[in-house]
Amino acid sequence: MTVTTGMVGHGFYDENSAPQWSATETVLPWLEDAAASIADAGQSQPIGIADFGCSEGANSIRVIERAVSTLRSHTVAPILTVQSDLPTNDFSNLIKSLRPEEMSVFGEQVYSALVGGSMFGQLLPPRSIHLATTFNAIGFLSRRPVDRLPGYILPNGPSKQNGVGKVVDAERKAFAEQAAHDLETFLRVRAAELVPGGKLLVQVFGASEEARTCDGIYDVLNDAVLEAVADGVIDRAEYATYYQPVYFRTVEDLTAPVVGASAPLSGLFVLDRAMHYETPVSFVEAFRSDHDAGAYAKRYTDFFRAFTEAVLCLAFPSKDPKPFADDIYARAERLVRRHPERYPFRYISVAMLLTRSAASS
Ligand SMILES: C[S@@+](CC[C@H](N)C(=O)[O-])C[C@H]1O[C@@H](n2cnc3c(N)ncnc32)[C@H](O)[C@@H]1O
Repeated sequence: MTVTTGMVGHGFYDENSAPQWSATETVLPWLEDAAASIADAGQSQPIGIADFGCSEGANSIRVIERAVSTLRSHTVAPILTVQSDLPTNDFSNLIKSLRPEEMSVFGEQVYSALVGGSMFGQLLPPRSIHLATTFNAIGFLSRRPVDRLPGYILPNGPSKQNGVGKVVDAERKAFAEQAAHDLETFLRVRAAELVPGGKLLVQVFGASEEARTCDGIYDVLNDAVLEAVADGVIDRAEYATYYQPVYFRTVEDLTAPVVGASAPLSGLFVLDRAMHYETPVSFVEAFRSDHDAGAYAKRYTDFFRAFTEAVLCLAFPSKDPKPFADDIYARAERLVRRHPERYPFRYISVAMLLTRSAASS
């Protein structure tokens, strides 16, 4: 059983994912280089491109457009595009966007499919894909490694700035091991789907020595949930079992499975490049110039509501989901509006580009 049903649908994720797009766009030159190298290898057979964790699809479509347009400047080979997410994901806008007016949105000789399934399983035939990507998604864990996280709502723990709550070393270790296991599983199944020489671009929100993408957002969500505990809306025992099963990796965590002779997957992939980087966040920049705390709090809260609401509602099954979520996020929005300085937000990503080795299967 997966630990989330996905993002908030009905267009809400698409409307509130500009920061994820900025983070994605920064590494698209890597994708263009990867696409060019595949086309230069003289492909005449259909070329397969797959994006895992596509959500409602607005950002994913833009990614695939970039890959297809690079491929098209090198080859006329037919292209298959695959976008995949959990079966519970809201694919409804995406499926309508792929063939407006009976023509592929990606141009001539491009055929598209949507696949529902967990990205931690093999979803496509062996050696069928030339270019695979995932953006802002692989931080979502495949399972909850512990039943309770009584001191905070996120495995990586609270920000240094606020220090609200605690995650102990044994808990941190359980999550770090789960994250490492998930990443290795993801890479193994993608290795099976990729052709030798195929490329895999993995980007995800993460942490550097300077900052972590989780700071700010989970502090305010934690404060909002604790306020609901204090008001008797949630009881303490329920709070102790609720957490967001998401892990923020460093670039060293990300590359560990493939870097070094003893790395478990060093025979499957070669690391072409890797980095951590920070990208601007539109609502933070707007607030810096207009000082409108109300607008800032709304955009900030909608942004993290889009990817935390499903887990929040699953964690409190006795609550009526919509009014419960409305209450928690209204509390969070009020906290940000009143104390914006307490919840600063920065978007740090980690990314790597891999080549599937020819040697092993
Ligand atoms: C924050 S969204 C990223 C969407 C898009 N790639 C972007 O960058 O805007 C994360 C996506 O990962 C998906 N996801 C989480 N766990 C997953 C799993 N085990 N298998 C496939 N998708 C998963 C969620 O459903 C969600 O759509």
